[in-house]
Amino acid sequence: RTVYLNGDYLSEEDAKISIFDRSFLMADGVYEVTSVLGGKLIDFAGHATRLERSLSELGMQKPEAFDDLLEIHRELVRLNEIDEGMIYLQVSRGSAGDRDFAYPSDDVKPTLVLFTQSKPGLADNPAAKVGIKIISIEDQRWGRRDIKTTQLLYPSMGKMMAKAAGCDDAWMVEDGNVTEGTSNNAYIVKGNTIITRHLGNEILHGITRAAVLRFAKEAQMKVEERSFSIEEAQGADEAFITSASTFVMPVVEVDGAAIGTGKPGNIAARLREIYLDESR
Ligand code: PDD
Repeated sequence: RTVYLNGDYLSEEDAKISIFDRSFLMADGVYEVTSVLGGKLIDFAGHATRLERSLSELGMQKPEAFDDLLEIHRELVRLNEIDEGMIYLQVSRGSAGDRDFAYPSDDVKPTLVLFTQSKPGLADNPAAKVGIKIISIEDQRWGRRDIKTTQLLYPSMGKMMAKAAGCDDAWMVEDGNVTEGTSNNAYIVKGNTIITRHLGNEILHGITRAAVLRFAKEAQMKVEERSFSIEEAQGADEAFITSASTFVMPVVEVDGAAIGTGKPGNIAARLREIYLDESR
C-alpha cells in the first residue's frame, strides 16, 4: 500500500514518524475518515471543514498541505486502486523531540498522515439486511466529543464490551440519555419521525448525520433533534446508526430488547438507499 506522510507518497514500510510524536505520547492528534464508493470520495468537503474546526479548537497548526488535501485523497485512491473503502487522515501536533505536556513552539510542524483501506463490498454490507445489535454503556469519554481526536481508548473498550456481550456495538449513555455510538451517531424512529441527539460538545457532529437529515427532510420525513433514553429506544419503531464507514445501518436490538419487528425498519432501509444513491 502507498501511504502519504508529510508531503511524500511512500510504501507503508517506509513511512516512519518519531517516537516523540505527540499523537503517540499524548493522543494529541485529530483525524477524519472519508469513504470511497466507486472510486469517488463521499462528502470530502464536509470532512475537510470538520478537520479545520478540530484543528482550530485545539489550537493546532494547519498542515502546509491543507489546501492540497482533496488532491492527496484522489492520488491515494488512484495509486492504491481503491474502488470501495476508506481514507484515514490524521494530523498531530508533531514531534518536539522530547516529552512535554506543554505544546511545542510553532516551528514544530504538524505531522500529516493519510492511508487507504480497501473494503470491497462496503456498500453491499450484508449486515444492513439483518441489522445490528447494540448494548448500552456509560459514556466515560472526555467533554469535547465534538472534536475528532485520536483518543479512542474508551470507544475501543466499548466495542470490546459489545463483542463480549455477543453484540455489534455500544451506545453510550450520559445523564440517562444516549449520546452516540462508539464510532457513529445514534437514531430512533417513531412513526414518520426520526429522532437523533441535538448537536453540542457531547457528540461528534457526524458528516453522514448532516447528509442523512437533509435527505430525510427532502423525503418529507420529520426530524427531531433531541435527547432520547435507552427505554425510549427500546419502545421505538426503528433504530439505526450513521457514520462514514457504515452509511446508514439498521439497529434491531438494544440491550436484549427487539426494536419494532426485530428486523431492519423501512425508514432506515430507505435512508440507506437514498444515501448510497446520492453518494454514488
Ligand atoms: N467515526 N460519532 C463518533 C464518536 C465517531 O467516531 C464517528 C465517526 C461518528 C460519525 O461521523 P461521520 O458521519 O462524520 O463519519 C459519530 C469514524 C468513522 C471512525 O472513527 O472510524
